[in-house]
Amino acid sequence: MTHDWERIAAKEAFFGVVTADKYRARELTPERIAEFYATGESDIADIIATFQRVFTAAPSGGRALDIGCGVGRLARAMRKRVDDVVGYDVSDSMLALAREYAGEGVDYTTAFPSGQFDWINSYVVFQHIPPPEGLALLKRALALLAPGGFASIQVTAWRTAHLEPKGALRQAKRAAHLALARAGARPAEALIQMHDYALTDVIRAFVEAGVTQQHLVHTDHGGHHGVWVFGRRS
Ligand SMILES: C[S@@+](CC[C@H](N)C(=O)[O-])C[C@H]1O[C@@H](n2cnc3c(N)ncnc32)[C@H](O)[C@@H]1O
Repeated sequence: MTHDWERIAAKEAFFGVVTADKYRARELTPERIAEFYATGESDIADIIATFQRVFTAAPSGGRALDIGCGVGRLARAMRKRVDDVVGYDVSDSMLALAREYAGEGVDYTTAFPSGQFDWINSYVVFQHIPPPEGLALLKRALALLAPGGFASIQVTAWRTAHLEPKGALRQAKRAAHLALARAGARPAEALIQMHDYALTDVIRAFVEAGVTQQHLVHTDHGGHHGVWVFGRRS
């Protein structure tokens, strides 16, 4: 079965990554695309600054992994800090665009990578993956973190009351809406789903992977709250 994110990427890849109308397919111009990738530069600069502040060190050189890299918005910026970047994603259409716009020096793949990484990053990805699957992916990724390696991984954990999925009727409506979107009778973005993780499970995964120091930074995307977990393996 086609992955929902492949359906989203085939129609609205850039909007699927940053949900602002200016990134819809019909609005894209070379300038708009350049602006889109500039947001990745700024996000990565913030991540590096946080590592510096918390650990008085930051990724520099070595090998990095961006999980759920999409069109390479962050992977492209990461490549300026390290020697090699692997961008891993489930969607071929996302990766085709990543190779086109953010390809230099980055290996984009749908195959989960092997080997060790000095930096593992993921932003606005785990929130779209059901927690049992997402926790397994998180553990699998953290097992690849080299001693002394850095992790910057964002997860969602709760939402404000008006976003809570209430009642059986509302859930049935949501299921019907998803089925229509998969059949192409609703816009592709209707397939974007949000999930909340138990932070105890997330922190436990970090600790069990040897990342015993963490620094948490709150995130809030329209009432979907979560944290960036910044960590360094001892
Ligand atoms: C909102 S986009 C974020 C892209 C990128 N992290 C960024 O910030 O520019 C979410 C990405 O996660 C990918 N994704 C969803 N489920 C995934 C999974 N189970 N494994 C890997 N990637 C996944 C999607 O295909 C999509 O490209």
